[in-house]
Amino acid sequence: MTADTKKGSVGQDRVRLEGRLKVTGTAPYAFEQKVENPAYLFPLTSTIVKGKIRSIDDSAARVLPGVLEVLTYQNAMNLLAKTDTELYLLQNRDVHYYGEYIGAVIAETQEIARHAASLVKVEYDAEEEDTRFRAEHPDRYSPIKINTGVPADSKQGDVDKGLAEAALVVDEVYTTPYEHHNPMEMHSVIAEWDKEKLDGVLGVLGERPHLRIHDASQGVSYERLMLLPLLGLLPQQVEINSPYVGGAFGSKGIPHAQVMLTILAAKLLPGRPVKYMLTRQQMFRSVGHRLTTHQHFRLGAAEDGTLTTITHDVQQSTSRLKQFAEQTVNATRHLYAAPNRETSTRMVPLDIGPATFMRAPGEFPGMFAQETAMDELAVKLGLDPIELRLRNQPETDPESGKPHSSHYLKECLQEGARLFGWEKRHAQPRARQEGEWLYGMGVASATYPKQMTPPTKASVAFKGGKYHVSIAAADLGTGAWTVLTQIAADALQVPEEEVVLQIGHTDLPLAYLAGGSTGTYNWGSAVMVAAVNFRSRYGQTPAEGDEAEGSAHFPDEAKKYALDAYGAHFAEVKVSRVTGEVRVTRMLGVYDGGRIINPRTANSQFIGGMTMGISAALHEESYLDSRPGYGHVVNSDFAGYHIAANADAPQVEARWIEHPDPMFGPTGAKGIGEIGIVGVPAAIGNAIYNATGKRLRGLPFTPDKLV
Ligand code: MOS
Repeated sequence: MTADTKKGSVGQDRVRLEGRLKVTGTAPYAFEQKVENPAYLFPLTSTIVKGKIRSIDDSAARVLPGVLEVLTYQNAMNLLAKTDTELYLLQNRDVHYYGEYIGAVIAETQEIARHAASLVKVEYDAEEEDTRFRAEHPDRYSPIKINTGVPADSKQGDVDKGLAEAALVVDEVYTTPYEHHNPMEMHSVIAEWDKEKLDGVLGVLGERPHLRIHDASQGVSYERLMLLPLLGLLPQQVEINSPYVGGAFGSKGIPHAQVMLTILAAKLLPGRPVKYMLTRQQMFRSVGHRLTTHQHFRLGAAEDGTLTTITHDVQQSTSRLKQFAEQTVNATRHLYAAPNRETSTRMVPLDIGPATFMRAPGEFPGMFAQETAMDELAVKLGLDPIELRLRNQPETDPESGKPHSSHYLKECLQEGARLFGWEKRHAQPRARQEGEWLYGMGVASATYPKQMTPPTKASVAFKGGKYHVSIAAADLGTGAWTVLTQIAADALQVPEEEVVLQIGHTDLPLAYLAGGSTGTYNWGSAVMVAAVNFRSRYGQTPAEGDEAEGSAHFPDEAKKYALDAYGAHFAEVKVSRVTGEVRVTRMLGVYDGGRIINPRTANSQFIGGMTMGISAALHEESYLDSRPGYGHVVNSDFAGYHIAANADAPQVEARWIEHPDPMFGPTGAKGIGEIGIVGVPAAIGNAIYNATGKRLRGLPFTPDKLV
């Protein structure tokens, strides 16, 4: 069961199906869904870091014309189960971090709600708090597992012996800052509580509550599963709609507090939809962030560059309210061969909001350390950094000993070197100068694993001469809608025009979320299985109403293999000797991402990842004011929090080495949503070293670090 790439749709360049709707402003995003007589919410947020609410005086807000309700812990509905501490909202007086939702004003307009919120007086009993991240924090702890279910620590061989016997050692600390999610579309929710009439047994009529939600979500199925135990509702009682999403990058992966806040607010106004869109400033408070890391990385090598030892000890921030333990050490366990290896993860609990997934959580910060350390080793050895990487390619997965399902890192490095003109690079720093500018080139490897996805289903139904393919998938702007249509067309052996794909609603077959770069191979697999089931049941000439289902299927054999995508990133930079300004003049990524379903959308994923990597390398950092009594992000808007603009990414190109990998599932795709960002800041930092001779071990590479 494979898609026919010769004459079929898979592998063809296709523009995004919903592209026109999105760029012409006619695609209804969550906030723009048509609802009757909406009310608007503006949140009340804590102005202390930690403590208890002593009193809330909402009298001035309540008498303001247009104000409908004020929601606080005093009138919020009781949540049943505390299955998620982030979503267990307004159930008591507790404050856990600055900017936490402590209530909301609901009014006839957004403007009235916002003004009324400013009239609510809240008094607190503050408690001693701690928001200052530092290594060796006395409360640091070892998490039982880190994200994706991997152990916090690992150990093989004898690293002390390995380092003692090494000809050369790199022993450094690398740091990455807090970053905040800023997709173009801020998080938005509409919630409405209704009554649903029931035909009871023996004709007795009853009714039960029904909750309708429009959300900007990476996956409505698992979002609903998370909400149900808190709300004490059955799946049939909650409906979530999210057809269009304006960027997400992990921040809309699981529901955050704004979803529950809007649900609780709507509960006070039964039958009336309540709408909430975060302000840009609120994006820096309660919808997650990339945690900050302190990484001690050591490499030991023989004279010829063969690695004998790799150690990676990570300390990283977490919220005391809810743990998010990033898998920062994960790539280190799988990329390079070395007999002696050790990794560890420690969490530093702070009174801050919960962190969440941000494009390549784990691999992104971890590979900044590893790939910078590799460059430092290459310099010490006097060896070309690509050659150093080639000499340490593992025969099998270094930790598990499993064979790779496919592994084309070497080819990515070599092909990239050829295309980028690596031979023109000067081994010595400061060798190329033009006026005030110093030029340099750098390289870094990339890797991203296959995730073990929970159940995912799809269905195919024949109606009105078209094949209606349904799956509760999400398109965040990635092209998922388009590539799933291509996959379905080939699996059904029909032109794309005969496929109508529906995504983004809980009435559709249950699907895992758009996360962990799984969408194409996971959803695509379910779609292929459903299509094949449909054809085997009804043949090539189905009747109106024929329908079949399918579940994502991965070969059992896959468990015998190490399953990873690979890539190589190349950067050329120029650094001003006068101002310390860094410009990335060129970037190239070459990827081993399995089968490429649609070269246009794949290219956008890759160069989008690289651009986000440039942004992290040059600009992104959330400054948390950790003085007692503050605890907020100081630069919580686009004036203070800088992201890459077009001028920061003048020439960013992607290529790929296409080897379909059936162990990732029947699509042969490996997942490409995140690998484009992995290692990018290291490639840029290594280029900065090559340009200037100055080694930067903390992100971002701002001018003050280079003058
Ligand atoms: Mo992605 S950070 O796995 O949504």
